[in-house]
Amino acid sequence: MNGLCTGRVAVVTGAGRGLGRAHALALAAEGAAVVVNDLGVGVDGTGSGAGPAQQVVEEIRARGGRAVAHGGDIATTEGAASLVRMALESYGRLDALVNNAGFLRDRMLVNLDEDDWDAVMRVHLKGHFLPLKHAAAHWRGEAKAGRTPTARVVNTSSGAGLLGSVGQGNYSAAKAGIVGLTLVAAAELARYGVQVNAVAPAARTRMTEATFAETMAAPGDGGFDAMAPENVSPLVVWLASPASAGVTGRVFEAEGGRITVMEGWRPGPTVDKGARWTPAQAGETALQLLAEAEVPRPVYGAG
Ligand SMILES: NC(=O)c1ccc[n+]([C@@H]2O[C@H](COP(=O)([O-])OP(=O)(O)OC[C@H]3O[C@@H](n4cnc5c(N)ncnc54)[C@H](O)[C@@H]3O)[C@@H](O)[C@H]2O)c1
Repeated sequence: MNGLCTGRVAVVTGAGRGLGRAHALALAAEGAAVVVNDLGVGVDGTGSGAGPAQQVVEEIRARGGRAVAHGGDIATTEGAASLVRMALESYGRLDALVNNAGFLRDRMLVNLDEDDWDAVMRVHLKGHFLPLKHAAAHWRGEAKAGRTPTARVVNTSSGAGLLGSVGQGNYSAAKAGIVGLTLVAAAELARYGVQVNAVAPAARTRMTEATFAETMAAPGDGGFDAMAPENVSPLVVWLASPASAGVTGRVFEAEGGRITVMEGWRPGPTVDKGARWTPAQAGETALQLLAEAEVPRPVYGAG
């Protein structure tokens, strides 16, 4: 078989369900051997179980692919390090890391407990940083040994991180942080042959099917099921493959049949007085500049 990822080894975090599962199956269908990580937690991050990761491994094997299960917590050093180690010990190499695991603890800010803040920041932000760090250390070693890899990292942000989302202060902050991490990683790791991009998906999973039941529903008429998680995976597979050479530090929205390049912060209207403003002058100038600036997109759920 000659797929986009033939001969490559990919790690997908949170691949026991939803988007991660779809990514793992799609990577395997394009020839990658996949380490399927999942801690098997509940929607709010509590509990654990080996079932989901093992089930996806069995699905991949039933389709003739290669996969192993990893049941560790990717937001711990041991979980992240053992995940990278499992790829190397099982298949002798690592080519792509898809950071995807996560969960929600939605609350309005005034009701958001410190625990809900910490848990969501931890799983998304630290849960991206630690696997990235351990994979990058391996790739740097390879590059230094004269075997510069064609390595890829695909991170998972969210529209909530890009535009903000009411009731998701913790999640929006974590997902915006993932964009910052993506930009730095792309810049730091280019010299070692590593490209780092992020996707902001939208799909029907247990994370969304209750809150957005109507938007997420499959069509009854057998037409295109736009919100199926499998629709996000083709872009992820391409970003994880050698075919995406030259693409790094970018953020894409992916939903249904639509792929959008998200264009980030850039300087808008500006003025330089060449001296210090008084607060009143600074305010007057800020209002003039705002009048010339583009109006920001609304925060999800606002109004
Ligand atoms: N579904 C959407 O529309 C949507 C939109 C924007 C972003 N996202 C993001 O996509 C990613 C996947 O979400 P999903 O919708 O498929 O949700 P999901 O709940 O179906 O899948 C997430 C998986 O991550 C696993 N997980 C959670 N914490 C873990 C940990 N510490 N270690 C290992 N595995 C862990 C869970 O067990 C679960 O199987 C998340 O990062 C989510 O924030 C989803």
